Amino acid sequence: MDFWNALGWEAFRWYSAALSWIPGGIGAIVRGALLKPFFKRAGRRTLIFECFTLEYPGGFACGDDLRVNRDCNFYAGGGLTLGNGVIVGQRVSIITANHDYSHAPLLRAPLVRKPVKIGDDCWIGAHAVILPGVTLGKGAIVAAGAVVTKSVPANTIVAGVPARVIKKRFKRG
Ligand SMILES: CC(C)(COP(=O)(O)OP(=O)(O)OC[C@H]1O[C@@H](n2cnc3c(N)ncnc32)[C@H](O)[C@@H]1OP(=O)(O)O)[C@@H](O)C(=O)NCCC(=O)NCCS
Repeated sequence: MDFWNALGWEAFRWYSAALSWIPGGIGAIVRGALLKPFFKRAGRRTLIFECFTLEYPGGFACGDDLRVNRDCNFYAGGGLTLGNGVIVGQRVSIITANHDYSHAPLLRAPLVRKPVKIGDDCWIGAHAVILPGVTLGKGAIVAAGAVVTKSVPANTIVAGVPARVIKKRFKRG
Protein backbone atom coordinates (compact mmCIF):
# COMPACT_ATOMS: atom_id res chain seq x y z
CA MET A 1 0.00 0.00 0.00
CA ASP A 2 1.46 3.40 -0.94
CA PHE A 3 1.67 6.37 1.45
CA TRP A 4 -1.48 8.20 0.25
CA ASN A 5 -3.59 5.05 0.30
CA ALA A 6 -2.31 4.26 3.79
CA LEU A 7 -3.14 7.81 4.93
CA GLY A 8 -6.64 7.59 3.43
CA TRP A 9 -7.22 4.25 5.12
CA GLU A 10 -5.98 5.64 8.47
CA ALA A 11 -8.30 8.65 8.09
CA PHE A 12 -11.29 6.40 7.37
CA ARG A 13 -10.54 4.34 10.50
CA TRP A 14 -10.55 7.48 12.68
CA TYR A 15 -13.74 8.72 10.98
CA SER A 16 -15.62 5.43 11.42
CA ALA A 17 -14.34 5.04 15.01
CA ALA A 18 -15.71 8.50 15.81
CA LEU A 19 -19.13 7.41 14.47
CA SER A 20 -18.97 4.04 16.16
CA TRP A 21 -20.55 4.88 19.53
CA ILE A 22 -23.52 7.05 18.51
CA PRO A 23 -26.28 5.11 20.29
CA GLY A 24 -29.74 3.85 19.41
CA GLY A 25 -31.83 3.89 16.28
CA ILE A 26 -30.78 7.44 15.46
CA GLY A 27 -27.14 6.33 15.65
CA ALA A 28 -27.91 3.46 13.26
CA ILE A 29 -29.44 5.84 10.71
CA VAL A 30 -26.69 8.47 11.04
CA ARG A 31 -23.91 5.87 10.83
CA GLY A 32 -25.47 4.30 7.74
CA ALA A 33 -25.81 7.68 6.03
CA LEU A 34 -22.30 8.91 6.89
CA LEU A 35 -20.47 5.68 6.00
CA LYS A 36 -22.29 5.05 2.72
CA PRO A 37 -20.43 7.65 0.62
CA PHE A 38 -17.28 5.53 1.10
CA PHE A 39 -18.89 2.29 -0.12
CA LYS A 40 -18.52 1.05 -3.69
CA ARG A 41 -22.32 1.06 -3.92
CA ALA A 42 -25.12 1.47 -1.38
CA GLY A 43 -28.89 1.22 -1.49
CA ARG A 44 -31.54 3.08 0.51
CA ARG A 45 -32.42 2.72 4.20
CA THR A 46 -29.11 1.42 5.58
CA LEU A 47 -29.14 0.81 9.35
CA ILE A 48 -25.82 0.06 11.03
CA PHE A 49 -25.77 -0.35 14.82
CA GLU A 50 -22.92 0.38 17.24
CA CYS A 51 -19.26 -0.66 16.96
CA PHE A 52 -19.23 -1.57 13.26
CA THR A 53 -15.82 -1.87 11.65
CA LEU A 54 -15.46 -1.97 7.88
CA GLU A 55 -12.05 -2.55 6.36
CA TYR A 56 -11.61 -1.40 2.73
CA PRO A 57 -14.98 0.33 2.27
CA GLY A 58 -14.29 0.72 -1.47
CA GLY A 59 -14.77 -3.04 -1.82
CA PHE A 60 -18.17 -3.04 -0.11
CA ALA A 61 -21.49 -2.87 -1.96
CA CYS A 62 -24.97 -3.29 -0.47
CA GLY A 63 -28.56 -3.11 -1.67
CA ASP A 64 -31.62 -1.51 -0.05
CA ASP A 65 -32.77 -2.18 3.53
CA LEU A 66 -29.55 -3.45 5.07
CA ARG A 67 -29.66 -4.07 8.86
CA VAL A 68 -26.32 -4.63 10.57
CA ASN A 69 -26.53 -5.32 14.32
CA ARG A 70 -23.94 -4.33 16.95
CA ASP A 71 -20.23 -5.25 16.91
CA CYS A 72 -19.91 -6.57 13.34
CA ASN A 73 -16.68 -6.61 11.36
CA PHE A 74 -16.55 -6.74 7.57
CA TYR A 75 -13.22 -7.07 5.75
CA ALA A 76 -14.11 -6.03 2.18
CA GLY A 77 -10.63 -6.00 0.63
CA GLY A 78 -11.50 -9.01 -1.55
CA GLY A 79 -14.92 -7.65 -2.55
CA LEU A 80 -18.10 -7.95 -0.46
CA THR A 81 -21.57 -7.63 -1.98
CA LEU A 82 -24.82 -7.75 -0.01
CA GLY A 83 -28.20 -7.85 -1.74
CA ASN A 84 -31.50 -6.24 -0.70
CA GLY A 85 -33.09 -6.87 2.70
CA VAL A 86 -30.09 -8.54 4.37
CA ILE A 87 -30.14 -8.89 8.18
CA VAL A 88 -26.82 -9.33 9.98
CA GLY A 89 -26.87 -10.42 13.65
CA GLN A 90 -24.60 -9.24 16.45
CA ARG A 91 -20.84 -9.88 16.27
CA VAL A 92 -20.81 -11.31 12.75
CA SER A 93 -17.50 -11.35 10.87
CA ILE A 94 -17.34 -11.45 7.09
CA ILE A 95 -13.83 -11.95 5.75
CA THR A 96 -12.71 -11.83 2.11
CA ALA A 97 -9.00 -12.68 2.26
CA ASN A 98 -6.63 -15.36 3.56
CA HIS A 99 -2.90 -15.11 4.26
CA ASP A 100 -1.09 -17.32 1.73
CA TYR A 101 0.29 -19.79 4.27
CA SER A 102 2.54 -21.45 1.68
CA HIS A 103 4.86 -18.42 2.18
CA ALA A 104 7.02 -17.92 5.25
CA PRO A 105 7.10 -15.85 7.29
CA LEU A 106 3.34 -15.36 7.32
CA LEU A 107 3.70 -11.67 8.12
CA ARG A 108 5.20 -11.11 4.64
CA ALA A 109 2.94 -13.54 2.82
CA PRO A 110 0.62 -12.09 0.17
CA LEU A 111 -3.11 -11.98 0.76
CA VAL A 112 -5.32 -14.27 -1.29
CA ARG A 113 -8.50 -12.30 -1.87
CA LYS A 114 -11.80 -14.04 -2.67
CA PRO A 115 -15.11 -12.18 -2.89
CA VAL A 116 -18.09 -12.92 -0.64
CA LYS A 117 -21.61 -12.48 -2.05
CA ILE A 118 -24.74 -12.44 0.11
CA GLY A 119 -28.02 -12.68 -1.81
CA ASP A 120 -31.29 -10.82 -1.25
CA ASP A 121 -33.34 -11.64 1.86
CA CYS A 122 -30.55 -13.47 3.73
CA TRP A 123 -30.21 -13.56 7.52
CA ILE A 124 -26.85 -14.16 9.22
CA GLY A 125 -27.22 -15.15 12.89
CA ALA A 126 -25.20 -13.73 15.77
CA HIS A 127 -21.49 -14.60 16.06
CA ALA A 128 -21.37 -16.29 12.64
CA VAL A 129 -18.20 -16.11 10.55
CA ILE A 130 -18.38 -16.07 6.73
CA LEU A 131 -15.08 -17.03 5.10
CA PRO A 132 -13.52 -15.89 1.78
CA GLY A 133 -15.14 -17.10 -1.43
CA VAL A 134 -18.54 -17.94 0.08
CA THR A 135 -21.80 -17.08 -1.70
CA LEU A 136 -25.12 -17.19 0.16
CA GLY A 137 -27.99 -17.80 -2.26
CA LYS A 138 -31.14 -15.71 -2.11
CA GLY A 139 -33.08 -16.31 1.12
CA ALA A 140 -30.33 -18.35 2.81
CA ILE A 141 -30.02 -18.33 6.63
CA VAL A 142 -26.87 -18.85 8.68
CA ALA A 143 -27.51 -20.03 12.26
CA ALA A 144 -25.93 -18.31 15.24
CA GLY A 145 -22.30 -19.28 15.77
CA ALA A 146 -21.80 -20.98 12.40
CA VAL A 147 -18.52 -20.84 10.50
CA VAL A 148 -19.44 -20.84 6.81
CA THR A 149 -16.66 -22.34 4.66
CA LYS A 150 -18.69 -23.25 1.54
CA SER A 151 -21.41 -21.58 -0.49
CA VAL A 152 -25.03 -22.04 0.61
CA PRO A 153 -27.89 -22.67 -1.83
CA ALA A 154 -30.96 -20.41 -1.94
CA ASN A 155 -33.54 -20.72 0.87
CA THR A 156 -31.32 -23.11 2.82
CA ILE A 157 -30.44 -22.94 6.54
CA VAL A 158 -26.94 -23.88 7.65
CA ALA A 159 -25.52 -24.28 11.17
CA GLY A 160 -22.42 -25.44 13.02
CA VAL A 161 -18.65 -25.46 12.59
CA PRO A 162 -18.07 -26.01 9.73
CA ALA A 163 -21.58 -25.03 8.65
CA ARG A 164 -23.79 -27.83 7.28
CA VAL A 165 -27.31 -27.76 5.91
CA ILE A 166 -29.89 -28.33 8.68
CA LYS A 167 -33.07 -27.66 6.74
CA LYS A 168 -34.74 -25.78 3.91
CA ARG A 169 -36.37 -22.51 4.82
CA PHE A 170 -39.82 -23.22 3.32
CA LYS A 171 -41.89 -26.40 3.71
CA ARG A 172 -43.15 -27.73 0.39
CA GLY A 173 -46.70 -28.90 -0.31
C1 LIG B 1 -31.07 -21.01 12.45
C2 LIG B 1 -32.28 -20.83 13.34
C3 LIG B 1 -33.14 -19.66 12.82
C4 LIG B 1 -33.07 -22.13 13.23
O1 LIG B 1 -34.20 -22.03 14.02
P1 LIG B 1 -35.29 -23.23 13.98
O2 LIG B 1 -35.86 -23.34 12.61
O3 LIG B 1 -36.25 -22.98 15.09
O4 LIG B 1 -34.37 -24.50 14.19
P2 LIG B 1 -34.57 -25.70 15.20
O5 LIG B 1 -34.53 -25.19 16.60
O6 LIG B 1 -35.76 -26.47 14.73
O7 LIG B 1 -33.24 -26.54 14.96
C5 LIG B 1 -33.09 -27.50 13.95
C6 LIG B 1 -31.80 -28.26 14.24
O8 LIG B 1 -30.70 -27.37 14.05
C7 LIG B 1 -29.93 -27.24 15.25
N1 LIG B 1 -29.56 -25.84 15.40
C8 LIG B 1 -30.37 -24.76 15.44
N2 LIG B 1 -29.64 -23.63 15.58
C9 LIG B 1 -28.36 -24.03 15.64
C10 LIG B 1 -27.15 -23.32 15.80
N3 LIG B 1 -27.15 -21.99 15.92
N4 LIG B 1 -26.00 -24.01 15.79
C11 LIG B 1 -26.00 -25.37 15.67
N5 LIG B 1 -27.14 -26.09 15.52
C12 LIG B 1 -28.28 -25.41 15.51
C13 LIG B 1 -30.88 -27.66 16.37
O9 LIG B 1 -30.18 -28.12 17.50
C14 LIG B 1 -31.68 -28.74 15.69
O10 LIG B 1 -30.92 -29.93 15.66
P3 LIG B 1 -31.62 -31.38 15.85
O11 LIG B 1 -32.54 -31.52 14.65
O12 LIG B 1 -30.45 -32.32 15.85
O13 LIG B 1 -32.36 -31.30 17.14
C15 LIG B 1 -31.89 -20.50 14.81
O14 LIG B 1 -31.48 -21.69 15.48
C16 LIG B 1 -30.77 -19.47 14.92
O15 LIG B 1 -29.58 -19.79 14.96
N6 LIG B 1 -31.18 -18.18 14.96
C17 LIG B 1 -30.25 -17.10 15.00
C18 LIG B 1 -30.72 -16.04 16.03
C19 LIG B 1 -29.84 -14.85 16.00
O16 LIG B 1 -28.64 -14.95 15.89
N7 LIG B 1 -30.43 -13.66 16.05
C20 LIG B 1 -29.67 -12.45 15.97
C21 LIG B 1 -30.57 -11.28 15.75
S1 LIG B 1 -30.55 -10.76 14.03
